Amino acid sequence: MPSADEVVQRAKRAGRKLAARGDVEPFLAMDVLRDAHRRAAQGQDICHLEVGQPAASAPRAVLEAARAALDGDRLGYTEATGIPELRERIAAHYAAAYGVSVAPERVIVTPGSSGGFMLAFLALFSAGEKLALASPGYPAYRNILKALDIETAWLETRAEDRWVPTAEDLANLDDAESLSGLLLASPGNPTGTVIEPDRLASLCRTAHERCLWLISDEIYHGLTYAAPADTALRHDPDAIVINSFSKYYCMTGWRIGWMIVPDALVRTMERLAQNLFICSPAISQLAAVAAFDADEELEANKAVYAKNRDLLLSALPQIGIDRFLPVDGAFYLYADISDYTNNSLDFSARLLAEAGIAATPGRDFDPFNGDRYLRLSFAGSNETITKAIDRLDGFLKAFR
Ligand SMILES: Cc1ncc(COP(=O)(O)O)c(C=O)c1O
Repeated sequence: MPSADEVVQRAKRAGRKLAARGDVEPFLAMDVLRDAHRRAAQGQDICHLEVGQPAASAPRAVLEAARAALDGDRLGYTEATGIPELRERIAAHYAAAYGVSVAPERVIVTPGSSGGFMLAFLALFSAGEKLALASPGYPAYRNILKALDIETAWLETRAEDRWVPTAEDLANLDDAESLSGLLLASPGNPTGTVIEPDRLASLCRTAHERCLWLISDEIYHGLTYAAPADTALRHDPDAIVINSFSKYYCMTGWRIGWMIVPDALVRTMERLAQNLFICSPAISQLAAVAAFDADEELEANKAVYAKNRDLLLSALPQIGIDRFLPVDGAFYLYADISDYTNNSLDFSARLLAEAGIAATPGRDFDPFNGDRYLRLSFAGSNETITKAIDRLDGFLKAFR
C-alpha cells in the first residue's frame, strides 16, 4: 500500500493539490490527549487536565435507557431533526430552566454541538462572509470557519474585562460594516467566564440593530459556581442557540447535542442535516431523553468540579501561578504563565513529558497572546487535581 506521502506526491505530479480549506490548524487539546494516551500506553501515569471531559460516566438513567434501546433494537435511522420525544423534552427544559417558551419544532438534535456549528455556519454564511469571534475562544470555531472559507473578524478580549467582548468592541471592528454574524459563548472556554445578563442583553441588542446573525454557544450551561448563566433567547428570540449533552450531562462520546433555531430556519437545517449526517446516533437520542431526570447525580458531579475549582484557586498562587481569574463557570482555569515561558506549546509538551500532566497550550484558544497562557481542565476527580497540583509544584520549582 502506498504511504500517505506517496499518495500526495503522486497527486502533485498529476497536477492536483490538496484543497487549501482542508489545511486547518490542529485542535491542540486533542493532540495533547493523543500524546498523553501514547505515554499512558507505555506505562507513564498521566493526570488528564487537557480536555473538557467529565470523569463521571453518563447518568445511570441514561445508561439504563441505552441498554433498553439495545434490547429493544430500535436503532435505525431517525428523523434528521431528532426523535419527537427528545425534541419535546429539550423544549420543556427551556420553559423549566429559563422561563422561555420554545416550540419543539424549533429544536434540532445534532451529533454533538460540533454538528450544530456545521449546520449553523453552512446555513447562515456564504464563503467570504465574516463572523465575529472572541479571542481567546474555542479553537474549532475558527478552524471550522476556515474549512468553509468563512472569514473570522477577531474581537480581542482582555483579562481586565473578564475576557468578555463589549458592544463597543463590536462597533469598533474595522470591518464592522461587512460583518454577517456574531458568536458568543457563556460560560466561555477556555476562560470560564460567564457573560452577565446586562452585557449579554447589550451584545444581543447591538447584533440585532446591525442585523447580524447571533449564535450563542451555551454548552456549559448548568456548570456555573454562582448565578446560573442566562440564555441569549431571553434577549433575542431569533438567536441561534447551540447546546450539548457533552458537558453538564457527561455524555462526551455519545455525540449528541441540540440547537434552537427560529422557525424560518428549521427546514434549511433539516435539509442540511439530512444530507450531512442523516441523523444523530439513535441510541444517544433515546438515552438523552433520560438525562433531564438525573439532576441529583449531575449536581453531585458539579460538586466535584466545585471542589476542584477551590483546590486550584487556593493552591496555584502558592506554587507560583497567580495570574488568572476566578472561574465563574465551565471547568477550565486559564492561567497566565508568562513568568515561565512565551511558548505555551513547548511548556505543555515538557509538562507532559517531565511531570505527567496533560494540559492545553493557550495557543489553541488565542492566536495572538495564547503563547503566554495554559488551560487547565478540572473536570476530573479530586484525586487527579490534588496529584496534579503536587506535580506542578515540583515541575515549576525545577523549571528553567
Ligand atoms: C465551547 C465549546 N463548544 C463546543 C464544543 C464541542 O462539544 P461537543 O461537540 O462535544 O458538543 C466544546 C468542546 O469542548 C466547547 O468547549
